[in-house]
Amino acid sequence: MRVVLLGAPGAGKGTHCKKIVGRYGLLHLSSGDILRRERAEGTDLGKKAQSYMDAGTLVPDDLIVEMMSKAVKAAPRSGFVLDGFPRTVYQAEALDRALAKDDSGIDVVINLQVDDAIVVDRITGRRSCPKCGAVYHVRNMPPKEAGVCDHDGAALVQRPDDTAEVVKNRLATYYEQTEPVVKYYKAQRDVRDVPADGDADAVAAVLFDILDVLK
Ligand code: AP5
Repeated sequence: MRVVLLGAPGAGKGTHCKKIVGRYGLLHLSSGDILRRERAEGTDLGKKAQSYMDAGTLVPDDLIVEMMSKAVKAAPRSGFVLDGFPRTVYQAEALDRALAKDDSGIDVVINLQVDDAIVVDRITGRRSCPKCGAVYHVRNMPPKEAGVCDHDGAALVQRPDDTAEVVKNRLATYYEQTEPVVKYYKAQRDVRDVPADGDADAVAAVLFDILDVLK
């Protein structure tokens, strides 16, 4: 199964991808996570991406398309769920071309819809584990002990782009460059719009209803 999960920053893409991966055995391909790994390892790509990410703007298309094409090609036969990619119409077209080469395609495009005010609250309250990648929220999804990962006891950190100031830029970038991707897909296929303002388990239940049919 090949799934594209779209949505504004903080819509819950990463949170729900983890649940989807657990239930359907898919590979989670998050462009943001891959870029953060490249940065942590100090690679050329990581260094090039750094200033864009910190400012809340998009990393140039050519870098992203090369990075994600490799990741998609290396995905197992069971399939993948894409999180944060494609984020421009150029990237969506490149993904279509890459999948056409293997005679495969996307099975479903899901669009998580969330209000801007909720986005700001979720992102500024997000904390993550630098060791295992688990994601929490200081109020909505707190760890058992404040500031400490439930899984491995590591001290939780805040992403450098999760400040109120940078979130404004990320949202503006989303409306300018990524919302057109939703329109791109809607012009050619059914896109499943899922309201994602509510409780995470309730949102996950809707996603599972959509994906169970495709299993
Ligand atoms: P990326 O890492 O992709 O960030 P993003 O799209 O802005 O998305 P987020 O990771 O912030 O949010 P999310 O939707 O995954 O929400 P989450 O589940 O964590 O990209 C970062 C940067 O990398 C970009 O700005 C760009 O520079 C670059 N980049 C990445 N991909 C690129 C591309 N394709 N092209 C160019 N540049 C690219 O949830 C957020 C919080 O809310 C968490 O705390 C969570 O616990 C909480 N939460 C989630 N759902 C709920 C719920 N239902 N109820 C209550 N709380 C909830």
